[in-house]
Order: sequence, then C-alpha cells, then structure tokens
Amino acid sequence: MSSLFARRASKARRSVLRELLKLTEQPEIISFAGGLPDPDTFPRKILAELAADEILNNYKKSLQYTTTEGKRPLRAALIDWFSQDGLHYEMDQVIITSASQQGLDLVAKTFIDPGDAVFVSLPTYLGAIQAFRALEAQLVGIPLLEDGMDLDHLEGAIARARKEGHRPKLIYVVPDFQNPSGITWSLEKRKGLLEIASREGLLVVEDMPYRKLRFSGEPVPPVAALDEERVIVLFTFSKVLAAGLRLGALAGPKELVEKVVTMKQATDLCTSALIQRIAARFMLEHDLSAHVRKLCEHYRLKRDAMLQALERYMPKAEGISWTRPEGGLFLWVRLPEQVDTERMLKRALEHKVAYVIGTPFFVDGSGKNTLRLCFSEATREEIEEGIRRLGKVVEEELAGLSTGQSL
Ligand SMILES: Cc1ncc(COP(=O)(O)O)c(C=O)c1O
Repeated sequence: MSSLFARRASKARRSVLRELLKLTEQPEIISFAGGLPDPDTFPRKILAELAADEILNNYKKSLQYTTTEGKRPLRAALIDWFSQDGLHYEMDQVIITSASQQGLDLVAKTFIDPGDAVFVSLPTYLGAIQAFRALEAQLVGIPLLEDGMDLDHLEGAIARARKEGHRPKLIYVVPDFQNPSGITWSLEKRKGLLEIASREGLLVVEDMPYRKLRFSGEPVPPVAALDEERVIVLFTFSKVLAAGLRLGALAGPKELVEKVVTMKQATDLCTSALIQRIAARFMLEHDLSAHVRKLCEHYRLKRDAMLQALERYMPKAEGISWTRPEGGLFLWVRLPEQVDTERMLKRALEHKVAYVIGTPFFVDGSGKNTLRLCFSEATREEIEEGIRRLGKVVEEELAGLSTGQSL
C-alpha cells in the first residue's frame, strides 16, 4: 500500500532527532535535550477552575464549534497583548490557531508552491523546516551571526535562487531568543531584513514564541512593528501559559490573513472553542503579564545557573564557545571543528547527560560541531551537575581526538 503515498509523504522522513531523544529519556540521565517549558510553571489550579466552569456552566458555547477565525474575546485580548509591543492590529488581522506549529503549516500551505525558495537561518527551528519541507519548499540556509542573519549572504542567496529557477517567497525568522541558538536580532538587522524583503517583494514570517520570556537587557521591537504590511506574526501560548493547550495566533495584513483562514477551514474547521474560552478568561480575569514576569524570574535563575556552570566546567580550549541568551529556553554551544556532537552523544549518555545535536537545525547539513542545551526543565542542582558531566565529556572527546582515538 505504500505505493499509494503522495510524493511529499514518500519524501518525508522520521526525524533523527526524535530517535535520539528517545535515547536520552533513561532514568539517571540529566537531560538538556528536551526543549519543553517547565510543567511546574503551568497555572494548573486556575486552568482547572476555568475549564470546569466553562464545561458546566457555559457548555453551549465552550463545547460547540466556533468560527475558523476564532473567538472574538480572545482575539480582542490578543490585540491588546500585541499592542504592548507596538503591534497595532484590527480584529480581522488576527486569527486563532492550534499553536504556532499550525501557524507554520498554514503559512506553508498558503504561500508555498513546490520549488519556491524559503530562506531560513543556519541554524533554525526544526518544526519550521518540517512544515516548509512538507510543502516541497526549496530551503535556503543563511548563516546566523551574533546579532541576526548575515544579510549580505541573504541578498546573494535570493539572487542565486532566482537564477536557479526557484521563486523566492518568504524569509522565516525567530528574532527573539531563537530556538535553537538563543540569539536575538539587533534593531539594525531587523530593519535591514525588511529593506531586503521589501526590495525583493518577499514575505517575512516572524515566529515569536519566546519574545515575552526576556530576563535581561532591553526589548527590541518586533520586525512586524517596523513594517506591518510585509510581516506575518506567529504567537503561541505554549511558552507563556501551557503547551498542552495547543493554542496560538497568526496576525498580519488583512488580505493575507483572509486566505490563511480559508486554508485553515480545510485543516480543522476551528481551534477548540473550550481552550479558546479558557485562555480568553485567563487573559481577562487573571494577569497574564504578571504570570509571565514570574516565569521570567524562574527561567532567569536556571539560565544563570547554566551559564555559571559552563564557565566553571567547560574546558578552556580554543574553538569552544556558547551563546549568552537574554531570554528564552535555550543556549547554543560550538565546539572545535573536529568534534562531531552526534558521535560524542554516546559518550555523553555514558556520563548520564544529554543534549540535542546541532545538525538537524541546519538545512545544509552543517553544524556537526554544535549542540543545543535547554535550561528550562532541570533543577538548578541538576544543571550544575549535568554541565559538570558535559564538561568532562568534552574534555575526554578532545583528548581522544588529539590521540587519534574516539568512542
Ligand atoms: C521557534 C518555534 N516555533 C514554533 C514552535 C511550536 O510551538 P507550538 O506549536 O507549541 O506553539 C516552537 C516550539 O518549540 C518553537 O521553538
């Protein structure tokens, strides 16, 4: 029966990362591999009360279908939420999605024909790679520097794609505390990106799941706040409320959003009315901003614990560096060129520590000497101990390389 698969399904491969993640889920392993928010931060009691009240006392609305665009009170609450960041939307510019992964899927379905060029950073979010690949996009990787994409490289890549017959369509970016690198784009880079996108007639997709998780430094305006006509924004409740709600939003120019709604209709008719009502009531009756401030404090302590442990335990060898994110859930480690972090994972698991290898985040297959560390789930004590173990792993790996032996 597999001969019945559509071409794009035949091409789809199971993610290597998923297979590797299974290995990290053994007891005693301190894992920085996950990438999930800390479940202890989910406001369980409030959510349970709101859910019970909605189901018992408001079932005619909460257990019913709703519009594809989503519930108006939630969209209105989100319009207020976005305005804190200088984003000014009307009701018909904001729709509710089943979290930002659906936003990505809908963007891909609405804008990508097979072979269209989509520009992403090296590294970029794996779920975006999957969503664009599923629609047979030609993914073009652009190096990510400390303050954002290498824009000179981007211009050259757009010209090359055109020459090779790939229609440049969109640039996908995560400008705040990117997954996987933790990097935040400077204002100059955000403006430069828009100049290029506008000159080349491209859409920018700004994915902002971590934007509100800023623990230090000053916020930089979202790309969309600099040019609302050219940018589609993806928002999610996953990192600021609870990932299991599977709730988010997509916002942008009205005519583009209207088309996305049509594509969503075919996908799921609507996002859960119950979940939308719970989130809307959380925003209206409880203080989401105050909740996010608590989250920031919680994650800041963990980030600091990880940065301090890295300083303390990583070997002081040339070619070893890591990012110092001002927010989000991740930081990114670069090891000397000769290190292969996939091969090193075996040694790490023997030392009972786990990370995510870098290569799956690179559309050009590079990044062999990189890895991602997530600081959200482990306790501060586990972070200290886990990084101590990782330091030992790297030390042994480097020693093995210099004597020509490796595990
Ligand atoms: C950059 C980025 N975009 C989108 C998502 C998808 O999140 P969700 O579908 O839960 O909103 C994630 C999840 O980790 C992410 O890191």
